[in-house]
Amino acid sequence: MSDGMSRRGFVRTAAGATALGAGASAPATAQSKQPDFGGYTDGAKGGDYADKRGSKEVTVKVGAGGGVAFAPTNLWIDTGTKVTFEWVGNQSHNVLFEAMPDGAGVSGHEGLEGSGFTHEITFESGGLYKYYCQPHKGLGMVGGIAVGGDVATKAVESSSGGGGGAGGAPTIPDSAKTIGVAASVAMVTTLGLTYFFVKYGGDYSPPE
Ligand code: CU
Repeated sequence: MSDGMSRRGFVRTAAGATALGAGASAPATAQSKQPDFGGYTDGAKGGDYADKRGSKEVTVKVGAGGGVAFAPTNLWIDTGTKVTFEWVGNQSHNVLFEAMPDGAGVSGHEGLEGSGFTHEITFESGGLYKYYCQPHKGLGMVGGIAVGGDVATKAVESSSGGGGGAGGAPTIPDSAKTIGVAASVAMVTTLGLTYFFVKYGGDYSPPE
């Protein structure tokens, strides 16, 4: 009886500690800013976002997500980062730029290519780049790359989706966070139960 009490107490304490830990590191409002591509990638296939600032080399999959998506669809990188466009999937695609900063002079790849083809671009000019796949643009095969710190951003909020025409995608990080916390709690709970089974279960002897 007192056994059961202490087990519950232990689990509750452990879960509480985990929740406190997650809470302490959670408020990071700075991370909720994303590049604003002016709606260009709204409704794009895929639609995911990756902040790869700090990486010198980044890969964008061409033909991801069931065939007609760039992944990540929305990307933020530092100036001077090399991006490798990597063709995947069973369909043919190309990469053409619709907009880029003045003087950037970046070239896509107009020829239709299949899985295994790669095209590298080092982005030396800061600003916003918008690109698409010609055969599949109508199906939402478009992407955006923001380069450097001097780019338009929009605030992305967890549930309200407030200003700036933010789409539905921004809820993903919060779901991931919730799953992470739930997993931590489950793990700690399991460890706690294991601890008590080992201590009182397998080798139980009556109190003297
Ligand atoms: Cu395509």
